[in-house]
Amino acid sequence: MPAVIAASYINPAMFEIHVAGRCLHAPAGSNLLDQLLQAGLPISYSCRSGHCQSCLVRAEHHAVPDQARAPLSPALQAEGWLLACQCPVQQDLHLRLYDPAKDGLPAQIEALTALAAGVLRLRVRPARALRFHPGQHLVIWLPCGTARTFSIASQTDSPILEFHVQQRAGSQFCERLLQLGVGAPCHLGNASGHLYYQADWQDRPLLLLARGTGLTPLQAIARDALHQGHEAGITLWHWQRGEAPCYLQEELDALAQAYPSVHLQLRQPHQLDDDLRRLKAPSRRALALVCGASAFVEQLGKPLFLAGLGRGQVLQEVFAKR
Ligand code: FES
Repeated sequence: MPAVIAASYINPAMFEIHVAGRCLHAPAGSNLLDQLLQAGLPISYSCRSGHCQSCLVRAEHHAVPDQARAPLSPALQAEGWLLACQCPVQQDLHLRLYDPAKDGLPAQIEALTALAAGVLRLRVRPARALRFHPGQHLVIWLPCGTARTFSIASQTDSPILEFHVQQRAGSQFCERLLQLGVGAPCHLGNASGHLYYQADWQDRPLLLLARGTGLTPLQAIARDALHQGHEAGITLWHWQRGEAPCYLQEELDALAQAYPSVHLQLRQPHQLDDDLRRLKAPSRRALALVCGASAFVEQLGKPLFLAGLGRGQVLQEVFAKR
């Protein structure tokens, strides 16, 4: 008689998850992220939809559902990483949690200032160059293990990475960040995300539509487009969350002055519905890039369609609330 009998042998509806020196028993088909969180294990997460890549875990044996690995780069897949939020438990698993100190890129907080009411400008110096496309996002881990996903505001040639941090009420990340301040160490995850400028967009008018700090990745994409010699017009719509002016107004005004092809529509929240009713695609080849909270992204679906933009002409990035 074996001393230890696998849970899957005792009950085929249960599987074993071996992680952090523990053995968890998980129902078949349950969500791996839920199981790890219920067990109180320190795993970061944000979107729960496979986009932010903050819930990475590494499987010692690579037999995991394809859907849990498909959003990752080939390099991460080859190393056995998977997204816990996308992984149904379908077999026994041997996992290693993401360790930012071992798996992340060391960095230091270079500056932390108020950019506007409720928005912080965070500048971070990575220990070595990070590969990314402007508009992509990454996870920042603070020394206490608190983590959050942020869009990268910078261009690729900058040695300092800039992020715009929405100060949400009760945000553990913001509280800890403000306590740590300038000079504190942190770790950065890999840059990821599908929303970035593509070389074959050069002659396609771009309609960039953002709410709140959804503006951060879209302004980075606009700058990257201009840097790459984008030929068609770029119209940037932004609806601020409160009545205060756009948190990047000064910088965007300077950009529009330098590039006549850039048209700004910096709007107040109460103007959103009227603006959406009047939205028009600048041409049949236009592309719309939408970024903000899920309610905003959903709200734009129909107006963009009525404005003449088909499904294949709209790219979206949803910001998770967490
Ligand atoms: S929480 Fe899993 S990818 Fe965002």
